[in-house]
Order: sequence, then structure tokens, then C-alpha cells
Amino acid sequence: MKFDKTVNTFLTLLSILMILITAFYVERLITQNNVSSVYTSKLSLTGAKLSDHLYAKVSKNVNQESNRGTLTQYEIEIVNAGDTDITNWELTMPFPQGPKLVDVRNVEASHDGEGIHFLPLYNNITIKAGESIDFSMSIFDPGIYVPTSMTITGFRMSTSGSTLGSRLIFALFVVWIVFCVSYMVVKYNSISFLKKQKNDIRIILQSMNTFISFIDAKDPYTRGHSRRVAMYAAEIAKRMHLAESEIQNVYYAGLLHDAGKISVPDAILNKPGKLTNEERQLIQNHTVAGGNMLKQLSSLKGVRETALYHHERYDGKGYPEGLKGNEIPLYARIVGVADSYDAMSSNRVYRRHLSKDEIIEEMQKGSGSQFDPDIVTYMVDMINDGYVNVVKMETAEDEGGDDKLHISEEDIPGLYMGL
Ligand SMILES: [Fe+2]
Repeated sequence: MKFDKTVNTFLTLLSILMILITAFYVERLITQNNVSSVYTSKLSLTGAKLSDHLYAKVSKNVNQESNRGTLTQYEIEIVNAGDTDITNWELTMPFPQGPKLVDVRNVEASHDGEGIHFLPLYNNITIKAGESIDFSMSIFDPGIYVPTSMTITGFRMSTSGSTLGSRLIFALFVVWIVFCVSYMVVKYNSISFLKKQKNDIRIILQSMNTFISFIDAKDPYTRGHSRRVAMYAAEIAKRMHLAESEIQNVYYAGLLHDAGKISVPDAILNKPGKLTNEERQLIQNHTVAGGNMLKQLSSLKGVRETALYHHERYDGKGYPEGLKGNEIPLYARIVGVADSYDAMSSNRVYRRHLSKDEIIEEMQKGSGSQFDPDIVTYMVDMINDGYVNVVKMETAEDEGGDDKLHISEEDIPGLYMGL
């Protein structure tokens, strides 16, 4: 889970970074290549500089005189000495009421009383870099008209920078696509893995519940015992600060610790009176039987050893092998304490459950002899702080019937760890 979150966070940050880089370069490219620019300059008959690289040359020819005034022709040339094309341009020249516009050539013109607006005849007439365009206009000039300024508006289109820019954008686009595809592949694999993992977990749960049903069916007085022991044991492991995977294994070990009871005849298991030596031997043999039954379950670490050794005693007087102290596997020591607590706190065929104080007294009496003293400390804490009551409430039989005896995904500690 942690790994997946880290990958997700990394990919999200990388994605944001890529968007920002792309946006930065696209914006820069647009700024460089497609600027709306306004050029203004004083106009003279010999030519005027409109911008750093844009010039106007104007020549004036007086063609004929008449009683309407002087027909004057202006030849106007716009020279683009820069390295960018000028497109969608419009040229405006102040033009007072007096003079009368007669004719224009190569451009369209409109006259609104304040100026003449020269427009290219077609939208695709561009003032290309290094080239010029020219047009002319004829006016009846009563002698008072003196053109003084000219304004050109248009868009500057880069020709030299655009190739590099386009390649850059294309490269970023390719990187972006590769990134998106990779992300989707990772995501898809992660979802497929999660689905498979969930299915595996479902199979484990169903197998476990089937097994627990067999164990519980043997001894109705201990119904729910397996689940409660598993929960107490997992809580002890948690309080001991074991790794999540270990806590989960302790839980499974608690669930299956009494698997060997299946091999014990019902009549002996449920016998209310005193047991004969032979009968006691048969019951004690459930540890060895459980160990043998769970040999195949090697994928769940410690489960077999717990079934085999959960009745060993810390002082070495337990069974089946008389292991002592830390020779007894840790899970078996934990489950041994949890198992004893549940036995004391539940009604049995031969006695009623003990009180809280009696149980604590028994636990402390057995500390260092029957039980690992460190583990007893955690169990006593769990009795005192009420954790055991929460478990009992959760596993109490009610209308829900067998559902309370069966484990669900929420029960298993750290189940989705690593997903
Ligand atoms: Fe047992």
C-alpha cells in the first residue's frame, strides 16, 4: 500500500511537472511566434521607420491639376527587413475631410472621416520577412493634406524559430504520451494485481472459515474460541510492536492452533467428568495431530509450529516436547497465553468462567512458569483496559448466528498491507 501510494504521488507530481513544462514552452512559443504588434512612426515622403525592422517608403507624384484640386498619387511601399512575417495586417493613415480619396491599387481601403484604413486584398497577403509590398492611392488634394503618421497593426509570425519550437512541442507531446501510456499500464497492472490479491484473500478466508467450522463443530462449548484467540494473539503481537506481516501470521496461527482437535473423538472432547489417562493422552495429542495436519500450510509462517507447541510451558513442563523458555516459538508462546485467557473467561462443560480478578490472579501466578512473563504483561493490560471485552462483544453469538464465528476481511490485521 505504501509503495503504491508513493508511486501514485510520484506519478502525479511528475504529471503536474510535465504539464507545467509543456505549458511554459507552449506559452513561450506562442509569445515568440504569434505576437499581436502595433507599429507606429512618423511618416515622411522619403520613408519612415515603423519598427525596428519595418519601414515605409512613400513617394508623391502630382499627376494633374483641375478645378477640383490636384490629383496626387502616393506610392507606398512597406519593407519588412526583419526575420518575421507580418500577417493579417491593417495600415491606418490619418485623412481629414478635405482631400478626397479617388483610387487605391493592390489594397482595399475604407475611409471613415478620420483616417484611411488600408487592408490586404486577400487575407493571405503577408508581408514576408525580407520582402516588401507596395500599393498606391490617388487623392484630390486641395493642397492642405500632409500625411504625417502611419499605424500598422498585425501579427508577427516567426519563420526561423518555429521549426525548433514545433519540434520541441512535438517532443514534449511524445514524452507526455509515453508518460500517460506508462502510467495507465502501471495503473492497470496495479488494479489487476489488487483484484488477484483480493481473490486470493477470499480463497484463504473461505478455507479458514471452513476449517474453523470443522474445529468449532467438534466442541460446541468452545464456539468462537478460534476467532477470539486469534484476535487476542494478534493484539498481543501488535502491542509487542511486531511487523505487520508477523501480526497477520500470529492471527492465522491463532485461528488454526486447535486444528488437531478434529482428530479427537467427540465423546472425549465433550466429556463432563474426569478424564482417564488414556483420554487425556488423546486430547493432548491434538497438538501433534494439528502440527501434522498443517505441514502443508508452509506458506503461512509459524502456523504449524503454533498448533504443535501452543501447550508447551515456559518452565518446560508442557507438552508435546517439553520445550522451555525461548525454545518455544514466539507465536506459540503468544497463542498459549491468549488460549489460556479464553479458556478461563469462557464457560466449559465442566465449569463456569472465572471472574476478571481471578483470571488476572491466575495469569500472574502462571507468569514465568506456565507463561512467558513478558507476554502475560500484555495480556493483563488488555484485560485491564477492556480490549478483551471488545473482542467478546464482536464475537458474541446473537441473531447473526454463525456469522459471528466466521472471520471477515476486516478481522485480519494488515490484510491489504503492500497493496
Ligand atoms: Fe489447544
